[in-house]
Amino acid sequence: MNGNLLEISKFAAPEIIFGFGAISQTGESVLRLGAKKLFIVTDQGLIEAGWVEQVLKHLDEVKLDYEVWSNITSNPKDYEVMEGAKLYLKSECDAIAAVGGGSAIDAAKAIAVLTANGGEPKDFEGINKITKPLPPMVMIPSTGGSGSEVSQFAIIVDSKRKIKMTIISKSLVPDIAIIDPYLLYTKDARLTASTGVDALCHAIESYVSLAATPLTDVHALYAVQLIANNLRESVACRTNLNAKKAMAMASLQAGLAFSNAILGAAHAMTHQIDGLLDSHHGETNSILLPIVMEYNLMACVERYAKVAEALGIKTEGISRLKAAEKAIRWVKKLFEDIGTPKKLSDLGLTEDLIPQLAENALKDACLVTNPRDVEKKDLINLYKKAL
Ligand SMILES: [Fe+2]
Repeated sequence: MNGNLLEISKFAAPEIIFGFGAISQTGESVLRLGAKKLFIVTDQGLIEAGWVEQVLKHLDEVKLDYEVWSNITSNPKDYEVMEGAKLYLKSECDAIAAVGGGSAIDAAKAIAVLTANGGEPKDFEGINKITKPLPPMVMIPSTGGSGSEVSQFAIIVDSKRKIKMTIISKSLVPDIAIIDPYLLYTKDARLTASTGVDALCHAIESYVSLAATPLTDVHALYAVQLIANNLRESVACRTNLNAKKAMAMASLQAGLAFSNAILGAAHAMTHQIDGLLDSHHGETNSILLPIVMEYNLMACVERYAKVAEALGIKTEGISRLKAAEKAIRWVKKLFEDIGTPKKLSDLGLTEDLIPQLAENALKDACLVTNPRDVEKKDLINLYKKAL
C-alpha cells in the first residue's frame, strides 16, 4: 500500500464482458439478472450512430421489454437525473442500463440510487451515503475513458451550486459491464483525445493514491502502458481496430484501479471547473494533470519513476527523480501531440473565480487520497498556474 489510510484491501468489480461484438450479449445478460423491463439511459448521438438500435435488437431477441430515455446532456445535471428517476418509476422498470459515455453511465447510476432511496442526488454526495440496495445495472460504454462501467463512482452536477458532486459507494458498482470496442469508432478525434486523457489521469492518480494497493497497482500500470502505446493512434485514425481495442481495455483497467484506489487533486480540481463551465472533463484534466504531477512529485518519486517505465521511458542509469521528471514531461508531450487545450483560460476560466473553485475542491472526496497534503492556498496556486 502506498499510504496508511486503510489497513484492509478491498477490490470491487462487476462481471466484465469484453471484445468486438460484446453487445450481442446484452439480452442474455439482462435476463440473467432476473429483469422483466429494462430502463435504458442514452444520448441522441448514440441513437443517431445506430448503437441503441443494435442493443434493442438484442433485447427483442430474448423478448425483453424496455423504455429508452435520452434526455441527458454531458456533465449530467441533478434535475435531469430526477426526471429520469420519475420516468423509471412510472414505466415500472426493474433494471437499468446505460449505452453511452461517462455521462450516460453516471446518470443511470444516479437514477438507480434515487429510485431505490428517494431524495435528490445531493443527499448522496460523498462516501457511502447510499443505504438501500439498487436495481440491477448493466453498463455499455461508448468511449475509451470514463471507466464508469466498472466503478463505484457517479459524478453529477449540482445545478444550484454549479459544482460536480462525487458520489462514491460500493452500491454503484454495476452488475455487468459490456465493453465492445466497436462503439468507440463513432467518436471524433476530440472526444477520443479527451476521454483517453481521462483514462490516463485515472491510471496515474490511482497509482499514486494513498489508498493504492497491489490489487489496484497492476491495473493502473497496465492502463498507463496501453495508453502510451495507443492513444495517439486512436486519435489519429477512427477505424484503427487495434488502437480502439487497446483504449477500451485501458479505460477498463484504469477504471478498475481508480474505482478501488480513488483519485487525487487533479480530479478534485477538474470536477469544480466542469461543474462551473460545463467543460469537457478530459480536457480539463489534460491541463491540470501535469501541474498536479509536478506538485505531487516530492511525495511519490519512486511511483512516478515506475509510471515512466510503464510509459516506455528508458530509466537505466538515471536517478529515480530524473525518471519521475521524465514521466511528467512525457505526459505533457502526449497532450501537445493530441491537441488538448493548454490553459484553463482557454476553457473560459477567469482569475476571480479561483478562490471559490479552491474552496469547493477542498471538499471533493477525490482530494482525500492525494499523495501530498493540499491546503486551500495550494489549490489556489495550482489553479493560477494552470490559468
Ligand atoms: Fe475522470
